[in-house]
Amino acid sequence: RTRIRAILDGGKAQAGRRVVVGGWVRAGREQGHGAPDPFAFLDVNDGSCQGNLQLFVKGEVVGYPLARLTATGTSVFVEGVVRRDERAKHGVELAVTRVLEVGEVDAAAYPLPKTKTGHSLDPAYIRDFVHLRARTYLISAVFRIRSELSFATEKYFRDEGFLHVHTPILTTSDCEGAGEMFQVTTLFSQAQKLEAELKENPAPTQADIDAAKIVAKEKGDTVAQLKSAQATKQEISTAISDLKKAKQDVLTMEERSKLKPGIPRREDGSVAFEKDFFKCPAYLTVSGQLHLETLACALGDVYTFGPTFRAEHSHTSRHLAEFWMVEAEFAFANLQDDMNCAETYVQYLCKWLLDHCQEEMEFMVKSHDKDAMERLKLVSSTPFKRISYTQAVEILKDADRKFDNKVEWGIDLAAEHERYLTEVVFKKPVIVFNYPKGIKAFYMRLNDDEKRVAAMDVLVPKVGELIGGSQREERLDVLEQRILDAGLPLERYDKYMDLRRYGSVRHSGFGMGLERMILFATGLDNIKDVIAFPRYPGRADL
Ligand code: 4AD
Ligand code: MG
Repeated sequence: RTRIRAILDGGKAQAGRRVVVGGWVRAGREQGHGAPDPFAFLDVNDGSCQGNLQLFVKGEVVGYPLARLTATGTSVFVEGVVRRDERAKHGVELAVTRVLEVGEVDAAAYPLPKTKTGHSLDPAYIRDFVHLRARTYLISAVFRIRSELSFATEKYFRDEGFLHVHTPILTTSDCEGAGEMFQVTTLFSQAQKLEAELKENPAPTQADIDAAKIVAKEKGDTVAQLKSAQATKQEISTAISDLKKAKQDVLTMEERSKLKPGIPRREDGSVAFEKDFFKCPAYLTVSGQLHLETLACALGDVYTFGPTFRAEHSHTSRHLAEFWMVEAEFAFANLQDDMNCAETYVQYLCKWLLDHCQEEMEFMVKSHDKDAMERLKLVSSTPFKRISYTQAVEILKDADRKFDNKVEWGIDLAAEHERYLTEVVFKKPVIVFNYPKGIKAFYMRLNDDEKRVAAMDVLVPKVGELIGGSQREERLDVLEQRILDAGLPLERYDKYMDLRRYGSVRHSGFGMGLERMILFATGLDNIKDVIAFPRYPGRADL
């Protein structure tokens, strides 16, 4: 199978080539209907590029009912010969000689309406069809841009001599100290915890009932009696044993042990599930930074790139509960080095998109944001503005604009402030540094004034904060105090503090949300449109 991109990129030079292509019909037109010699044109896309390959299908040649090929959404797998056609956009079309496979489509119910070539559907409308929307001009362009940004990230850091390391998703520490973590638990540990609690407490508490409801929810309506918050102790116990039985029915113990030979067992042969799997609360990571720091303190320059989770209850157009973060960490580096690296990295990404995603960017300009391409050009070639937090606050105070969020020294900058600085005042990315310690995480290095920390945020037009980073606190006594001041449990950070006991080193790093970078590049307004399956409050289905 040849990817359509290879054919269209090759243009007329491809004429005469016999190829097999597979893709989905975006638009089809049957012509010469009822005549002895009917034929059809199909605009087919296979996701490899923005353009469609025009298929010319003659009923007589393929011996196939043309009406089954033309509906929008039909998948076709065909063989044919590329031939010149001056009317087609890329100067070629495919004369189909054989239809190898055709997928059924319920044309009347297909939810994505036919669009004119290169036209965009409303992103908010297609958001309801996360499973189909990658077939649209818009979302497929976004995913190619996303793919290029991932690749460019690898390339940039590799070329700079960084090691790619993988930090865990499950962790016990709250890197940001903001408490925005999803706790991880198992169904069995829920049930066992409840069972233990019931033994201790003769009457069920509200917490028992709530926990039992979680169990009940997992189980479905077998424990329907728990619907009422007035469930009795007996009802709860029944629900728990029902649940355990149901779980065991799914897989016999023997089958289970074959799957996991090392599973711990009690004397009677039953599986000994631990009360708490990890023996202490575990969470989905909010940042790989703490792990990355430990590796940077041995390997020098490292980066990681992976899914990151935040239980933020914010319904904004720039927050997700699950997003992808690129994080870099380097030893023997201060805040200046951090800003320099973040700036050259973002410039590299912009340049990469200009060189590798021209069609996609042209589409964005035409359909969503006329400035998108210019913005990439500007950012890839212009030094970012750097101002201190204090300067930023002064500028915002003097602004002849009323902000929804009050401006005074000590506030966390809101998106409207960040956008004002980048879009109105400086008209380019701005790096704000030296933030008040009260609004930043415990690990950031305390400045000599003891009021500010060596933090920096890269702000960009359209989005606001794209990158957050800092020089890390390498002094043990100061770090200890900062952890305590943040109200975090010191013992959970003991290993982290060991880095300051054994060969402490000046080091810095930053994190960039990939989705924010895509928003910035494409000019799209909503972060839910730049990740395949967005997760946010109320939404985690396919
Ligand atoms: O500023 P943040 O919270 O910084 C950190 O997590 C540091 N530990 C990173 C580091 O120094 N290694 O997050 C970094 C970036 C933000 O600038 C933003 O681009 C993105 O991650 N981000 C989000 N993106 C989408 N949805 C969310 N809920 C996000 N929260 C942060
Ligand atoms: Mg931040």
